Amino acid sequence: MNRRYRKTIIAGNWKMNKTPLEAKTLIEEMKPLLAKCKWCEMVLCVPFTDIQTAVKSARGSKIAIGAQNMHFEKSGAFTGEISADMLKEMGVKYVIIGHSERRQYFNETDIDCNKKVKVAIAAGLRPILCCGETLEEREQDVTLEVVRKQIKIALRDVSPDDIKKVVIAYEPIWAIGTGKTATAEQAGEVCSAIRDCLRELYGARAARAITVQYGGSMNAKNALELLTQPDVDGGLIGGASLKAPDFAAIVEAANQ
Ligand code: PGA
Repeated sequence: MNRRYRKTIIAGNWKMNKTPLEAKTLIEEMKPLLAKCKWCEMVLCVPFTDIQTAVKSARGSKIAIGAQNMHFEKSGAFTGEISADMLKEMGVKYVIIGHSERRQYFNETDIDCNKKVKVAIAAGLRPILCCGETLEEREQDVTLEVVRKQIKIALRDVSPDDIKKVVIAYEPIWAIGTGKTATAEQAGEVCSAIRDCLRELYGARAARAITVQYGGSMNAKNALELLTQPDVDGGLIGGASLKAPDFAAIVEAANQ
């Protein structure tokens, strides 16, 4: 973390978990535990069907609500899809773009991510753009090339002014939901390479102000070590964001 230049953001990704009633219960449980949070922003990216309840339950707290995906068209014949304007009107502040599960199971490409990032920003949402390598790519020693390519394509034509609204989440695919966390050094190395890439694209001043999160089996035990890396500015948390004490412990680590 480097709080002098950029915000630390701890975001939960609930994935396809929790009904609206369960969402309300979990947020009510989290609220008192998160009340002391001073130094970081907290976001919960909930299923579409939980958004209304989550926005209401989070009122009066510092928790912002995010979505996990959106479509890049404004409106039209896209059965089952949700637009950026729909999310915005519901009180959503953040939207995850290009999560590896979307890429893997729903064939999302870097070009789709690029369209979504631009549309999200235009609608007043902050995209959390995900990138990360497979185990095979890491073993073949092409991690940095893969991540650079993902970032460069997804950010094409995003203006220097708009890049301030983007959050990047580095999530090695082999670490997601597997209990295998990247070491702090591995996470630090890639997050720092991402910042180098952002520097090439937008200059030093813009690059140092962008929040770059780590995600992939981040939990109450390993959060502090990961967050002490200078270029790791927060986390995107799956499993551990479904339990109030675990999520609160990660937020506490980000406040140290
Ligand atoms: P995990 O998920 O923390 O359960 O590994 C992270 C993510 O997919 O964003």
